[in-house]
Amino acid sequence: MSIEVNAVDTARVKADSAKHVLVSWSVQKAANTDPVVVTGGQGVWFWDGDGKRYLDFSSQLVNSNLGHQHPRVVAAIKEQAEKLCFIGPNFQNEARATLARMLAERTPGDLVKTFFTLGGAEANENAIKMARAYTGRQKIITRYRSYHGATAGAMTLTGENRRWANEPGISGVVRVQDPYPYRCTFKGCGDNCSMQCAHNIEDILNFEGPETVAAILLEVVTGTNGIFVPPPDYLPYLRQLCDKYGILLIFDEVMSGFGRTGKWFAADHYGVTPDIMTFAKGVNCGYVPLGGAIINQKLSDFYEDRMFWGGLTYSGHPLACAAGIATLEAYEADGAIENSARMGKKLLEELTLLKEKHPSVGDVRGLGLFCGIELVKNRETREGLPPWQGKDQALTNKLRNALMARGVFVMCRYNMLFIAPPLLVTEDELMFGVKALDEVLLLADEAAASA
Ligand SMILES: Cc1ncc(COP(=O)(O)O)c(C=O)c1O
Repeated sequence: MSIEVNAVDTARVKADSAKHVLVSWSVQKAANTDPVVVTGGQGVWFWDGDGKRYLDFSSQLVNSNLGHQHPRVVAAIKEQAEKLCFIGPNFQNEARATLARMLAERTPGDLVKTFFTLGGAEANENAIKMARAYTGRQKIITRYRSYHGATAGAMTLTGENRRWANEPGISGVVRVQDPYPYRCTFKGCGDNCSMQCAHNIEDILNFEGPETVAAILLEVVTGTNGIFVPPPDYLPYLRQLCDKYGILLIFDEVMSGFGRTGKWFAADHYGVTPDIMTFAKGVNCGYVPLGGAIINQKLSDFYEDRMFWGGLTYSGHPLACAAGIATLEAYEADGAIENSARMGKKLLEELTLLKEKHPSVGDVRGLGLFCGIELVKNRETREGLPPWQGKDQALTNKLRNALMARGVFVMCRYNMLFIAPPLLVTEDELMFGVKALDEVLLLADEAAASA
């Protein structure tokens, strides 16, 4: 692969960015210290103005499932741009209608009709709006170790600490514990999970009054809060619980969808159909912002004779939808989902070897190319290295920088490293990343030994 370093005045980019761009989830001074100015990318690689290339071992924010600059998607955007860049949502449009049909054909069960948004947060906002309208109830159950987006409602649905500074949020959100066997709140789970976290949800429903609960909303495989793959009976149990009390089940597949776990959707591993599924990211790999909430037949029928009180100027944007069609076609034409399943198995094997070798690795887990490494000070106590949601991020930053120095980008949060390369990654590329992890984990071992 040849790297074409675009002629970019990186000094000017840095100066303009530092002065004029407010960076997500960052203390601005830190974000502008030693930033990487990315000038191009291709497949699993991206590169900076000096021609240094990086393996995108987390697909940016677990987003670039097809990698960078996939020719089929780039061509589709160009072609649509020549035809029609924008049309309002109350006109019909071929790209929007086709993508909506393709999604209905690929999502589980009777999910049939999509409200398109610009990303994941808006998808979740609209999902809970629909659940409340359909049930006439207010409460939404979510989980503590979760992230659902940064708009006011989605921030409240979120369980983790990015919510704290944004409180108070919306009313009516009740949070429950997660399926996290490595640190099970209910103990005694071990390898033989008795699903006490799931049964506890029924207890909480009874305390809250099930007739006041509109929906249970969750990530099928938890992403940025630790990669939790639920036990086989967990989602079937929740489906049954929701049906028992007339509550809607909403799956947030913003990160776990579109081949990330080795099947089209993480829900496909469990044979469970939600009432609403939210998505974004892998629907077109962020080439043009796009998300959505796809609803089942029952909800679709509900809106036949009733107003849907929601809308967005850019809902179903033609450029985004054209990119979506090409993306879904590329997953199939390139065998990307099969490769995710195959390479995901290899990745988990390699991460398990790293765990055997490095005392600081407490646990490795994942499904398909959606894997995580959890670092601990001590395998007996399982104390996080550094603690989850702790203030001291020095080691996390050191590991991230050491990986970048070796040409590997990994999303790191507290004591978690998220390994989620583009789905078309080859074994050689995978091993390039694993080798860098092996080297860099020595720094974590040192920190654990001296803690
Ligand atoms: C599971 C999940 N839901 C929702 C979101 C929010 O998506 P967006 O940033 O597109 O609003 C994210 C973002 O990372 C996510 O991981």
